[in-house]
Amino acid sequence: MYMSFFETAEKKRRWSVYEDIPWDRLNPSVYDEGRAMNVETFCGVELYLPDYLGQGVNLVRENFGRAWFQANWGYEESKHGLALRMYLLKTGQRTEEQLRNLEDAIAARPWRLPWDTPRRMTCYGAIQEASTLLAYARQMEDAQGANDEVLATIYRLIARDEAAHQQFYRAVLKLELEEHRHETLEDLALVSVGFRMPAIDLLPDSERRVETLRMHNSFNRWGFFLKVWMPLLKLLGVSRQEFAEYQRRAIDQTRDKAS
Ligand SMILES: [Fe+2]
Ligand SMILES: [Fe+2]
Repeated sequence: MYMSFFETAEKKRRWSVYEDIPWDRLNPSVYDEGRAMNVETFCGVELYLPDYLGQGVNLVRENFGRAWFQANWGYEESKHGLALRMYLLKTGQRTEEQLRNLEDAIAARPWRLPWDTPRRMTCYGAIQEASTLLAYARQMEDAQGANDEVLATIYRLIARDEAAHQQFYRAVLKLELEEHRHETLEDLALVSVGFRMPAIDLLPDSERRVETLRMHNSFNRWGFFLKVWMPLLKLLGVSRQEFAEYQRRAIDQTRDKAS
């Protein structure tokens, strides 16, 4: 599975922050502070890469496919952060100093793995990559609507990578399900109950950031259900009723643990 993921990535999906973004078409008349704030937020989330990568790869180091996926995944994610960072600087919507402050704030508050088993992290990855894809697709529409061609291109390239990441995690999850159906559904339910997007709450001004994302059409619960959960359950061949049963048990379990 990893080799076919890698082959497609190498042959069809590689892109360059230097060659594939139309930097000569920057248009200051379309800039907007809310949109720039969203770029900064996504950039911040992507800048947590050293934590995602370091902790993630250690968890799966004994599994060739998973470990090498992490390495390749890290390269792709690093371009996401760089492209967004370059956009903010080249458009003059943020200065080097402002970005350094953001990077310092990120370095000061490490992200920790939300789960400590490979299978739970697979569940998390499947949901997280799908949510990220949805968020970038929404931001792309927002940038297109505002005629920000450069930003729309960046979001499109990133979204294509996120779609591939989502597909990989879903495929691994499907395998897990085929081998250990009950345990995998237990894990997926547990992860779903407490799911949050990574690192946003660690960024400075996180509440304002979430609010600004909402204003630009990201984080809509119905969209999350429709675009993240429905397709995942369908692919796994799990009915909503069956999964709801597992979720109910996971909520009870979480509550028992807390009390
Ligand atoms: Fe990304
Ligand atoms: Fe991703």
